[in-house]
Amino acid sequence: MTWAEYWSGETTLYVSARHKGVHYETVARDIVACLPGRDARVVDYGCGEALSAHLVAEACAQLFLCDSTQAVRERLAARYAGRANIDAIAPAQFAQLPSGTIDMIVANSVIQYLSASEFQHFLTIARDKLRPAGRLVIADVIPRQIGPLQDAAELLKFAAANGFLLSAGSGLVKSFFSSYRRVRQRLGLLKFNEAEILNLLTQSGFVAHRRHPNIGHNAQRMTFLAFAGEAVPAG
Ligand SMILES: C[S@@+](CC[C@H](N)C(=O)[O-])C[C@H]1O[C@@H](n2cnc3c(N)ncnc32)[C@H](O)[C@@H]1O
Repeated sequence: MTWAEYWSGETTLYVSARHKGVHYETVARDIVACLPGRDARVVDYGCGEALSAHLVAEACAQLFLCDSTQAVRERLAARYAGRANIDAIAPAQFAQLPSGTIDMIVANSVIQYLSASEFQHFLTIARDKLRPAGRLVIADVIPRQIGPLQDAAELLKFAAANGFLLSAGSGLVKSFFSSYRRVRQRLGLLKFNEAEILNLLTQSGFVAHRRHPNIGHNAQRMTFLAFAGEAVPAG
């Protein structure tokens, strides 16, 4: 099984509906905190189910939800059919957006599933789409030394704080036998240490820095803000 096949099927990442709901709400609120302003045109790249995308759409002018999985895009299109400022698009449509028209691109918990060359290609396209003052937010980046055990510990903390500790415990047992674990073992995940990814972003034409905290629940992972132009707003 490839990552693309994994994402096309029923994923085992979430231990319960509550986990999935609070995950997407947390991510949406964290994305809103990164927005440059209410008139921003935003791409959420590798958005997944984006169950709380309405929170982002209410805080910006236009939201493109971009995901490589067709079934995910169909569910997004159905869920947000009534929202004039949300569009579900494929990566090929992202690549066709006019150059220099996007204020923020966020990729949360996505780049680990790309190859190094796919990530480089994504950076090239992202830089082209951003306005000179635009920003790329790359989040939930996995440091090289972090593995499944630390991820499990972070999940348990998130579960304890959000009332799904029991299901998280049984979910972790299930995930040990899951296809996610097998694909993760076989294909691996793209990981970086902080200096490596900052260097790559610089080589790709961005002015970048690490942002604290990370987007989402996992404090062991990292978020980076990368600006397409020279000026680096605070944040
Ligand atoms: C772990 S989920 C992350 C979803 C969401 N961003 C979040 O924060 O929960 C990864 C998502 O990235 C999508 N994806 C994987 N590879 C991709 C690619 N090359 N281009 C666009 N989306 C991709 C998958 O279909 C999946 O929905």
